[in-house]
Amino acid sequence: MKSNKIALAAILLWIVTIAVFAWFFIRGNTVAGTDNRTAVVLAVGERELILSEMRSLLGGVQGILDSLNHGDMKQAASAARVVGMASAVDVNPALMAKLPIPFKQLGMSVHSDMDGLALAAESGKPAAELQTMLTATLSKCVACHASWQLKAGN
Ligand code: HEC
Repeated sequence: MKSNKIALAAILLWIVTIAVFAWFFIRGNTVAGTDNRTAVVLAVGERELILSEMRSLLGGVQGILDSLNHGDMKQAASAARVVGMASAVDVNPALMAKLPIPFKQLGMSVHSDMDGLALAAESGKPAAELQTMLTATLSKCVACHASWQLKAGN
């Protein structure tokens, strides 16, 4: 009887622990933001890393548009490739755990779109089609910025 109770308590504790981990994994390290968005709380260096990734994304968009304007598909492909999935793989696990799941999904989907753009440029798709693809990707940038803030904390 007593050992049954201990077993039950152990199982309950196990479930609670898993639930807490799952909750943090989905939610990431977030607090209410200062402007109706949700703030992801990161260490100073982690925030700077993400922001520098953001500036690369903006540079990528500029590079792609500039290349398309000059009809240089090779250049467009390489500008997109620079900000593709390969640029996101080395983000460390501790930082990844602080990012909420929807944030990671949107971020990864932007990088994967950039690889898609590179492929489309390499395979000779017309510039208008690439612009349409880039516009769809930019709406993901806008959507993410509308929901999330980055805050330096712990
Ligand atoms: C997964 C979410 C997400 C996506 C997708 C995203 N961003 Fe951001 N970006 C952010 C957040 C969060 C900030 C910080 C905003 C704040 O704290 O107010 C930011 C900041 C920036 C900044 C400011 C950088 C600085 O040095 O302050 C630029 C530029 C930027 N993003 C460009 C882009 C571009 C271009 C895209 C799409 C190609 C993009 N971002 C996609 C989340 C995202």
